[in-house]
Amino acid sequence: MFRTRIPLAALGLFATLAIGQQALKYSDQLNHAPTPIPDRLILTWSDNPATTQSITWRTDTSVQSPQVQFAPAQDGPNFQKSALIEKASSQPFTTGLSTSHYHSATLSSLSPATAYNYRVGDGINFSEWTTFRTASTTAEPFEFLYFGDAQNNIAEHCAHMFQTALRHAPNARFLVHAGDLINNWDNDAQWGEWHRAMSFLSRSIPSIPTPGNHEYGRIENIPTLTKHWQPTFTLPTHGPKGYQEATYFVDYQGLRMISLDSNRVTPEQTEWLEETLKKNPNKWTILTFHHPVLSAAKGRDNVRLRETWQPLIEKYKVDMVLNGHDHTYARSGLENTTVYAVSVVGPKQYDLEKKPWMIRTAEDTQLFQIIRVNDNLLTYESRTATGDLYDAFQLLKQPKGPNKLNNQIPKAKPENHREAKAAVKG
Ligand SMILES: [Fe+2]
Repeated sequence: MFRTRIPLAALGLFATLAIGQQALKYSDQLNHAPTPIPDRLILTWSDNPATTQSITWRTDTSVQSPQVQFAPAQDGPNFQKSALIEKASSQPFTTGLSTSHYHSATLSSLSPATAYNYRVGDGINFSEWTTFRTASTTAEPFEFLYFGDAQNNIAEHCAHMFQTALRHAPNARFLVHAGDLINNWDNDAQWGEWHRAMSFLSRSIPSIPTPGNHEYGRIENIPTLTKHWQPTFTLPTHGPKGYQEATYFVDYQGLRMISLDSNRVTPEQTEWLEETLKKNPNKWTILTFHHPVLSAAKGRDNVRLRETWQPLIEKYKVDMVLNGHDHTYARSGLENTTVYAVSVVGPKQYDLEKKPWMIRTAEDTQLFQIIRVNDNLLTYESRTATGDLYDAFQLLKQPKGPNKLNNQIPKAKPENHREAKAAVKG
């Protein structure tokens, strides 16, 4: 009998011939072709998370009457009898692979702290019914997930990360993507791969994405955000003119979550940031943008960003800054008032440059973060691809003065470093 187990690393043309099959790669055009059945379905917020929910999806161009059906969830199937229909708006979208329709709708006047079931379609063909939950109007405890760059080999190396993350934070209320979701800004197949990898997560938990440098390309030599961004995500438009849906905030149960476009460290964004921090009624404030304030990768330093945004971050006592871009892991202590984190969920890994501010670091490690907010306490966990706890701390709000930081780094887990591995190998 043939032995059919072949080491993946040995699988090349020789091995393909050896098992007697000449497989052809299924084309991107067919693999990512839009159909009348909704795909690339994703939840975001463009308005108040307690009373609204934005929903975006894709179909082929035959779909002319897109709609969302929704109803408060019930114990059984009868919810469907009370479903309401919200019409969606559509835009045609042409990529290197196809022309499709992207549809979006924002449900409004929803009840706070309520589970709703919804599906999208055209009245004949539909997605599955899926559940989302509106935010509470009060500062109830909650958790959310933060992912650094996915970017490369998303189906191979990121999908399982997202699945593991959900198993460790099944009640995550939103997903922060700190930029470089994909590798080549306008590559439709990569966007398709990202949507498939996110799958159930992004259709049941709203995303808060911020653009990385890989979401940018050049048109007539001018840096330009991918044309996928606007149709893919339905986000707040209260950012400065020209930065809408990249620069925005969402207030969620006592937390202001702010996204900035660090590809453009401009006076417009800096001014908007200051206003947004100044008029902030929330107890907690977290910023996300792609390029790190405190660089972790060897030879990198974002001087302009540090000089421009860091003073505001510290002046307004931002609690945490969540960055990506450096393809390593590094987390600070209390740099004056703020904790800075750089993380990576994807497989591309760079050399770390150790610096005095780093409390916990990693190389060659894929990580996701769970952040929990409960009144005066914020807890942070960074977990590896196996789900192992790699880094943890608590932040405690004080009646006066800066937060109190309590490191809870797992002692049994040594830091993953390239040098250390090389030494073991000899
Ligand atoms: Fe990047």
